[in-house]
Amino acid sequence: MLQTFDNRNRDLIVNINGELVHRDKAGVSPFDSVVQGGDAVWEGLRLYNGRIFRLLEHLDRLRRSATALAFADIPSDDEIIREIRRTLEANGMRDGVHIRLTLTRGVKVTSGMDPRLNQSGPSLIVLPEHKPPVYDKGGLTFVTSSIRRSPPEFLDPKIHHNNLLPSILAKIEANAAGADAALMLDRDGFVAEGHGMHVFIVEDNEVSTSHTRACPEGITRQTVLDLCAANGIAHEVRDISTTRGLSRRRNVLHGDDGRVGDASFGFSSDSGPHEWFASLLVDRACTM
Ligand SMILES: Cc1ncc(COP(=O)(O)O)c(C=O)c1O
Repeated sequence: MLQTFDNRNRDLIVNINGELVHRDKAGVSPFDSVVQGGDAVWEGLRLYNGRIFRLLEHLDRLRRSATALAFADIPSDDEIIREIRRTLEANGMRDGVHIRLTLTRGVKVTSGMDPRLNQSGPSLIVLPEHKPPVYDKGGLTFVTSSIRRSPPEFLDPKIHHNNLLPSILAKIEANAAGADAALMLDRDGFVAEGHGMHVFIVEDNEVSTSHTRACPEGITRQTVLDLCAANGIAHEVRDISTTRGLSRRRNVLHGDDGRVGDASFGFSSDSGPHEWFASLLVDRACTM
């Protein structure tokens, strides 16, 4: 297993609706929409040397997602940033931290699906953890999952919501196959993304990645494309078939958990001719 318990997180302070509490005392109401129906949106943030990578882009996506789900009284960016800051200060955190930021539709007056049962505004949860990169640069194995990523007509992937079961089912398949990660296809059989990360193919010095029809509008994904453009690296957004784009030991970059700037890009092959590319991305992103 790639992730294990980190002793530094034993006494974490988490923030639930502005209340700072020890992780063992933190409670979310059973009437909260995230418990009742996974009715929430979230972002994974990374803290580097006191600064959060692409924070405003993440907050934009959180807001777009919450608006698409018709949440009421979405907190302002300033309010959210204030709560993140209070939480980091309470934990004395500056670097090497992953923050899971969740906004739920809030507490319901009685259990049920109807959003009109939510009458007290959304709940904001800030969960920071000391967390080194999950994947190293030594190579990853993927297994192609039988679970497909849904297109917009089922559940629009542009909403970054908490219904993670398709990814979890795909990861169960990867675990059963002894692979590190699951490669998920779209309804038409083209690569959508990994179970929780975007995938980039590096072939003949050209980088390509899939359309966002069946994967989130990734902030890491956009950063990679922007860096390619800024550095004159050929890049394309296209339909990637598993036969053309992904054979054994291909140069596949993955951006995981919204992380960029350290080991967030790894190669799923051990042939290194494109190592320069990963280093370039990492170096450039670190300075941002
Ligand atoms: C399903 C899924 N794919 C990809 C990503 C990576 O996206 P980003 O780079 O914007 O964090 C995430 C991150 O939250 C995700 O949940």
